[in-house]
Amino acid sequence: MHPVGPFGIDALALAVPEQYLDLTTLAAARGVAPGKYLDGLGVQRMSIAAPHEDPVSLGAAAARRLFETSGADPSQVGLLVVGSETGVDHSKPIAIWIHKLLGLSQQCRVYETKHACFGGTAGVQTALEWLASGAARGRSALVICSDIARYELASPGEPTQGAGAVAILLTQDPRLLALEPGVSGSYAREVDDFWRPLYRKDALVDGHLSVQCYLDALAGAYQAWKQVCRETGQVAPLVRRCYHVPYGKMAKKAHRHARTLDGLTEEQADASYAAEVAPSLRLPAQVGNVYTGSLWLSLASLLDAQAGALEGQRIGLFSYGSGCAAEYFAGTVAQGAGAYAQGLQLSLPLEKRKALSFSDYEAIRRGDAEADRRPAGEPVPGKGPRFLGVRDDRRVYQG
Ligand code: HMG
Repeated sequence: MHPVGPFGIDALALAVPEQYLDLTTLAAARGVAPGKYLDGLGVQRMSIAAPHEDPVSLGAAAARRLFETSGADPSQVGLLVVGSETGVDHSKPIAIWIHKLLGLSQQCRVYETKHACFGGTAGVQTALEWLASGAARGRSALVICSDIARYELASPGEPTQGAGAVAILLTQDPRLLALEPGVSGSYAREVDDFWRPLYRKDALVDGHLSVQCYLDALAGAYQAWKQVCRETGQVAPLVRRCYHVPYGKMAKKAHRHARTLDGLTEEQADASYAAEVAPSLRLPAQVGNVYTGSLWLSLASLLDAQAGALEGQRIGLFSYGSGCAAEYFAGTVAQGAGAYAQGLQLSLPLEKRKALSFSDYEAIRRGDAEADRRPAGEPVPGKGPRFLGVRDDRRVYQG
């Protein structure tokens, strides 16, 4: 017998690297007017991962924080999916190291998903359908999105870097956001807008093409979602909209595009941006692009700011992954989510970071190529999971 919903997001938690680069520092070093980054792109800081911070350590840190803040029971996790496009091994998934670091059950299904920034959302949709199908048998699903976004130094993509992980727990009777199984619009098309060949640590991108591909995919997924809503009688309006946020201005362009498809003029679409979108961009502007976690960081930003005011209201969610695949869907904020979200202290990890100097930032980035090959050394001071290096070609983690 199929269980009765609702199903959706019960808890969220973030992990970010300990250091960030201020975009005014980058602008000064690159001889660019700071307004181009701050206003033109809508970014203020970008998280920069040190050699001991990788997608495994960040993902495990986010999930540990999720269990601590939500009180959820790790032994109840029956499905662990890690979405990432910056994996650390061609074969072994990030998910299995995280499974060990979290001490999850050996009866848990564990794997990694990849489709550029869409990989995490693919995991969320799979987890949602696993819950709704009855296969979960009362267990929960943990989806972790974890990435380090890198572009070539001094390239146009450089100010749109970032790093971080978002852990998402999905259950029946969720305390944050009820999702709508089966009510989504998908879009996919092969395109060379952004990619990362096997021999590179930093991504290659046709930047302006990627913006157009994002908007085309949004139109395709949004129209498909609206059609499914009509067919299934899901007519509640969207009061907020969260987007994939490679940089804040992209969400503004996306919102204008989607709302004009609804028949609004560009002026009307822009007038709705402050209320419908801006609250979800506060945390992304402080972290940068986190690839798979980007949409979910934007949702965390919204719930951190407004969960109480949004209880019972429906919000739209758009995920885009270059290459490309996209999905539009929606969810309703749970009753009681306001007080509960306050207790999750979603933005707290951002408050503990330290600013990098430009020379330290460049030194970290120039060491990227060798970071995965360095011999495992002494333990790294501080709390939480850390990547120590390799021993006998095997990755070694502390914590
Ligand atoms: P660019 O070509 O250097 O920048 O790089 P630009 O010349 O297009 O300027 C950007 C904006 O700043 C413009 O505003 C300028 O007018 C404005 P817009 O016309 O777009 O509204 N501007 C200023 N504003 C105020 N004061 C000033 C000033 N000067 C200029 N002084 C680009 C921009 C996004 C192309 C580059 O950063 C890039 O290639 N980034 C990486 C690719 C990317 O993020 N693409 C987004 C869509 S694809 C996606 O989201 C998928 C992705 O996440 C990967 C995945 O799926 O895995 C990337």
